[in-house]
Amino acid sequence: MGTVTRGTTNPNRLRRMDRWIAAVHGAELRRAGDPVAVDLGYGAAPWTAVELLSRLRTVAPRARVVGVEIEPARVTAARPYEREGLVFRHGGFEIPVPQRPCLVRAANVLRQYDESQVGEVWERLCARLAPATGVSRGGLLVEGTCDEIGRRHVWVALGPEGPRTVTLATRLGSLDRPSDLAERLPKALIHRNVPGEPVHAFLRDFDRAWAAAAPYASYGARQRWIRAVRDLTADWPVTDGPARWRQGEVTVRWEALAPRG
Ligand SMILES: C[S@@+](CC[C@H](N)C(=O)[O-])C[C@H]1O[C@@H](n2cnc3c(N)ncnc32)[C@H](O)[C@@H]1O
Repeated sequence: MGTVTRGTTNPNRLRRMDRWIAAVHGAELRRAGDPVAVDLGYGAAPWTAVELLSRLRTVAPRARVVGVEIEPARVTAARPYEREGLVFRHGGFEIPVPQRPCLVRAANVLRQYDESQVGEVWERLCARLAPATGVSRGGLLVEGTCDEIGRRHVWVALGPEGPRTVTLATRLGSLDRPSDLAERLPKALIHRNVPGEPVHAFLRDFDRAWAAAAPYASYGARQRWIRAVRDLTADWPVTDGPARWRQGEVTVRWEALAPRG
């Protein structure tokens, strides 16, 4: 299910997303009986799937990755890269794997669809995730967008119950102001960066906090970012802490940024 789109990808492009997934979802993957992760829409070359496997294995040694692509020639091109724990399959949003995966990562896939399609695709993908149990919150869908070399990234994380959080992740040295990330907002939010919408207010407040934290720039962009995010926590439901902020990340509850109406 879905449509073939441009296959642009790059080695190491998704490192920030991979590291975040390993940090926040590693324990779930370790506990799972069969920790299957899907790299949905890996593109014209299989690099992101290969890298996802190696990064997940640092926290969950039994993790396996299935790369899924809707363009058959890209599956044929990827097959020589199959190895223990990594296979490639032709398919789309139906997710052609027998089990309900612990992780579905869709990076730079929905960007090329219409905003009106996002809700339906999210629902379909969330319904395929491993269900929550007494000891598990269930599988995770990570859907987002980044620039060509992965310096600026924004993604939404969803569980079987729906959207949970939005994460902004950036190489701090390359940042003029937090709203530089606006051009990498995922499809559900990019058209909502206009006055009156929560995501617009959030980026405006983040820019203000960043400006107010300018004196910290003499200690480096990292200290400035940490200070600005700390200020943001007064008005916005930031769900992570300094250990993640140090990486140039911040995660906020989805409900706070969700589009109005
Ligand atoms: C821009 S590439 C992204 C590649 C890689 N994920 C990255 O971020 O570097 C998008 C890929 O998603 C694939 N795609 C689009 N819709 C899809 C679907 N419904 N199921 C599987 N793949 C899909 C396209 O064919 C394309 O190869």
